[in-house]
Amino acid sequence: MCGIVGYVGGRGATDVLLGGLKRLEYRGYDSAGLALVEGQKLHILKGTGKVRDLEQSVYAQWDAGFRDGARMGIAHTRWATHGSPTAENAHPHTDQTGHLAMVHNGIIENYVALRTQLKAKGHMFASQTDSEVLIHLIGELYKGNLFEAVSAALKHVEGTYGIAVVSANEPDQMVVARKGSPLVIGLGENETIVASDVSAIIAHTRQVIFLDDDDVAVLTAQGADIRNLHNIPVSREVAQVDWDVGAAEKGGFEHFMLKEIFEQPEALENTLRGRLDEAMGTAILSGLSLSPRELAGIRRLVIVACGTSLNAGMVGKYYFEELADLPTEVEQAAEYRYRNPIIQPDDMVIAISQSGETADTLAAVREAKQRGALVVGLCNVVGSTIARETGRGVYLHAGPEIGVASTKAFTCQLAVLLMMALKIGRCRRLSRQRGSEICEEIRQIPALVRSVLKRNDEIIAVAGEYAKVRDFFFLGRGCMYPVALEGALKLKEISYIHAEGYHAAELKHGPIALLDDQVPVMALMNDLAGREKMVSNVQECRARNAPVVGVITEGDDSAAQHVNGVIHVPRCSRLTAPIPTVVALQLFAYHVARIRGCPIDQPRNLAKSVTVE
Ligand code: F6R
Repeated sequence: MCGIVGYVGGRGATDVLLGGLKRLEYRGYDSAGLALVEGQKLHILKGTGKVRDLEQSVYAQWDAGFRDGARMGIAHTRWATHGSPTAENAHPHTDQTGHLAMVHNGIIENYVALRTQLKAKGHMFASQTDSEVLIHLIGELYKGNLFEAVSAALKHVEGTYGIAVVSANEPDQMVVARKGSPLVIGLGENETIVASDVSAIIAHTRQVIFLDDDDVAVLTAQGADIRNLHNIPVSREVAQVDWDVGAAEKGGFEHFMLKEIFEQPEALENTLRGRLDEAMGTAILSGLSLSPRELAGIRRLVIVACGTSLNAGMVGKYYFEELADLPTEVEQAAEYRYRNPIIQPDDMVIAISQSGETADTLAAVREAKQRGALVVGLCNVVGSTIARETGRGVYLHAGPEIGVASTKAFTCQLAVLLMMALKIGRCRRLSRQRGSEICEEIRQIPALVRSVLKRNDEIIAVAGEYAKVRDFFFLGRGCMYPVALEGALKLKEISYIHAEGYHAAELKHGPIALLDDQVPVMALMNDLAGREKMVSNVQECRARNAPVVGVITEGDDSAAQHVNGVIHVPRCSRLTAPIPTVVALQLFAYHVARIRGCPIDQPRNLAKSVTVE
């Protein structure tokens, strides 16, 4: 996720900005840059790579007098979303006059339309980013007052932003604004700092203001004048932050994993943003670069992935078969090239990978391409190897995932797979009306996840009862079966409890032999189609004295009678149910691991990106 730092005050801005960017490095980024205003001059330096590379360039290219003399500046670490990670796409971006500069977090959804309008007025663009379009629009409207130009421009913008803008003509003040992307203002003595999170601020001051959506503020060394888009002053509370730096990076959460679990409503909103077309009952996934005719012509799907992404692919199989009538095979990527994978002319291969760097998935992509398959990527990291080699696909926009155990990437993968199935289904036999209903169901996903997160305390209580066990079974049916696999994977990787995910019906073909009063079972009983059969499977477990925790739909009290412990999930459609369900299982695994004192963000023997076979 991109990071912003801005400074205006009585000392040299350069060191504050570089120090702030270093504090934001944990968020993940691929390029960095800064702009300094000195006198009436604007100086910009940016490039791909690390903040220390930027720092070296600053020291090599800018003399000490200038470095120390500049009293105002903005800086940015970019995590690519629109356009690959290159120096041109790095922030800050400037307007057409070169006198205004801006750093931006978020996504300008209508940037294509805005760019077309601006091009017609003679604007030339140096990057592929949505952000550059916004600063050009601000420049177009600038008549000597930066606040007015920013407010006017933001009225034309659809999407999300956290921005900091400077003008060489107004060297003592910067303008910041937020909608959807967080911004915090730090109030120091004779200096004001702005950043995307407090970790970049607390070395300088602990007095902060968290901006709200639609706030626009003028920052000077003396403080912040906050208004709304219509120039009406708004008052915001000044808070005192007591977090240490480590806690600040994690947004006050104990671990990145917990932060990322709680980030899921926002991550999912980013994944869905601008991609649902209720009127046509379909999804807009332009990165697929396939016409409706080409999508209608697909005869078979093959999904290749590893680990959590593989589990997402297994849920995807249900989606593609149900909504698009497409035979779908899900393959462990590691096996793919060691068989004779049959590729027929109308097959499409989907490679799912959060990192876009997993060696086995990449090798499967290369094998499939060599055999002439149409291959699409479903990645989180923009510009990653799999994203580049597939050349077409859908980005998750989940933001960087830092905790080793994948959480928000999984739920965003499911949301994308559901949208892909909807889109392909609409090119085949799915009616517009059914498509619109599914769009409406998909729109509810962030709210469903929020409602599970509200049950954190209930899940902590259940986790407390089972934190000492050595083994655990996770059972599900239908598309809850891969969710059971994912729940077991989460538990084993971070708590070191031996956990097995099984199809509930497979249990009696062998593993039931392991059940006794020391081996609990997590039964996913909230898939309404398979509910009665799950109740029977639960009874089989109880008959072997295994304690059973039921994941049940809110209000399904009769299911609760069959189990020893309950985790509630909200009532929702069959298609969306895997997402809130897995969030409950992520929280369960997290709290068990925490109670056991495990190193949750870096579990033993695991790496975030597996780039070897
Ligand atoms: C588990 C986990 C791994 C990854 C797997 C694939 O929590 O994170 O199982 O899912 O290594 O990684 P990507 O999706 O980056 O290809």
